[in-house]
Amino acid sequence: SHLSREDLKALIRTVPDFPKPGIQFRDITTLIGHHQGMAASVHHLAELAGAAGAEKIAGMEARGFIFGAAVAVQLGIGFVPVRKPGKLPIDTIGIDYALEYGTDRLEMDPGAIMPGQRVVMVDDLIATGGTALASAELLRQAGAVLENALFVIDLPDLGGAARLREAGIEVNTLMEFE
Ligand code: PRP
Ligand code: HPA
Repeated sequence: SHLSREDLKALIRTVPDFPKPGIQFRDITTLIGHHQGMAASVHHLAELAGAAGAEKIAGMEARGFIFGAAVAVQLGIGFVPVRKPGKLPIDTIGIDYALEYGTDRLEMDPGAIMPGQRVVMVDDLIATGGTALASAELLRQAGAVLENALFVIDLPDLGGAARLREAGIEVNTLMEFE
């Protein structure tokens, strides 16, 4: 009764030359605006997270919040936001990581996870894997057992999923775009 992964792929909008010339941007706006598309995406991700033994879902700001929070509700477990800097009103733990040009930073509540809790990461898309690798390291610093990451979209040519697997993280995705 749920839409297939092939149906979900057809709901992604591809926008040429965003944010830069030559980039084909894979846009989830059209997927999440479609009720059955969103419901099926969350269903498939929740099945994978449940099979991985998730005790908590972590999502990366901002698009990881959309899917991650819904998966957490579906499984009846808590959600942990991994945030862009300066957003949380408490003392945070953070991690700086390299981008192609410059650096970025992610922060979280150091008390969000009980030591040894099994956390599964959810994001809309993996490209280079920089965001997911930094998030995994930060979640582990917070006490998580982090062995699984889930993405709606994989861009395999950019190598992120391979980098995560090399780091010992099992990766599952709902679709790929060359
Ligand atoms: C995008 C995407 C992932 C990340 C993937 O987020 O949602 O989080 O980039 O890229 P990577 O694998 O090369 O790290 P973005 O930073 O654009 O933020 P947003 O969710 O706030 O739009
Ligand atoms: N689409 C959406 N987000 C992204 C992409 C993309 O193609 N590449 C890196 N982040």
